[in-house]
Amino acid sequence: MAVRLRSAVRLLSYGLFLFLAISLTRCSAQDPQNTLRGTAGPVADRQADLYWFVFWIAVGIFILVTGLLLYIVFRYRARREGELPPQVHGNTRLEIAWTIAPALVLAVVAVPTFTTLWDLSRPPAPEENALEVVVRAHQWWWEFYYPAENITTANELHIPVGRKVRAKLESADIIHSFWIPKLAGKLDVIPGHTNELFFEASRPGEYRGQCVEFCGLSHANMRLRVIAQSESDFQAWVRQQQQPARTPTGRAAQGAQLFQNPALCAACHTVAGTSAQGLIGPNLTHFASRSTFAGATFERTPENLTQWIKNPPAMKPGAKMPAFGNQLTEEQIADLVAYLQSLE
Ligand code: CUA
Repeated sequence: MAVRLRSAVRLLSYGLFLFLAISLTRCSAQDPQNTLRGTAGPVADRQADLYWFVFWIAVGIFILVTGLLLYIVFRYRARREGELPPQVHGNTRLEIAWTIAPALVLAVVAVPTFTTLWDLSRPPAPEENALEVVVRAHQWWWEFYYPAENITTANELHIPVGRKVRAKLESADIIHSFWIPKLAGKLDVIPGHTNELFFEASRPGEYRGQCVEFCGLSHANMRLRVIAQSESDFQAWVRQQQQPARTPTGRAAQGAQLFQNPALCAACHTVAGTSAQGLIGPNLTHFASRSTFAGATFERTPENLTQWIKNPPAMKPGAKMPAFGNQLTEEQIADLVAYLQSLE
């Protein structure tokens, strides 16, 4: 009896541990990476609805199958030593039933699955005035090009609320995958092939995104933010981004000189309206209008920027930008940081 009790207690504590482990995994402030709760747009809503529909059917089947199994295990268990239950071989009616039933379940699941897939892959009609954005994935950051507005930015995607976005996904190097859990996704970003993803934000806010195809050392640091704003705020942002870079003064002007040195920043970065026209790294024309950098991994603070210029790979494994800590003096780095922070 004591043995039975002890094993029952052990089983119970395992169960409790499993329950806690599963329930704690969903603990976070606002679960920004959760696609199944607090969605912010019609595409994510449809994806979540489909998920829950299939999920509850699966729960029903799980309960039915496990219930039958438990019933049979207990009902036909050996009550006396060496006792055998009645032996049965085959049952045509049962076998037909458990062949047809799953086929019916699959047919029921297929209807909303295919309608959702078709609906979500339909490009927006011309009269919907969709915002077109070319999303170019790089190891390990995101470039956003707005062809109609002629804007190039990085890692922070601005979109107007209530208007469809037509994202053309391109890769500059290897396969990545684009995912904004609260809005839409995921869709692979493949070199030499353009995939299209359509989505829409139904309320203003900031939504996190993430590369979801393993793409090397800093795959986990290949993040993005979507800033959904009212149409008028979005238009104000567009006008500001279309301006040439601010003319720097004081310390920032010193930094601008350094920046344009073809052996330094200008080798890879562009600041519109200056001689810096590099195309390898992110366009920094309005760098200080963004709140993060390096694949939306770090807050844009002077301390972070100083560390970054000194040694990017130390902050972000594999970062392609070389370390300048040995080439530049503390003074020069401070000038560059002042310049970057002036680029609003
Ligand atoms: Cu890009 Cu993972």
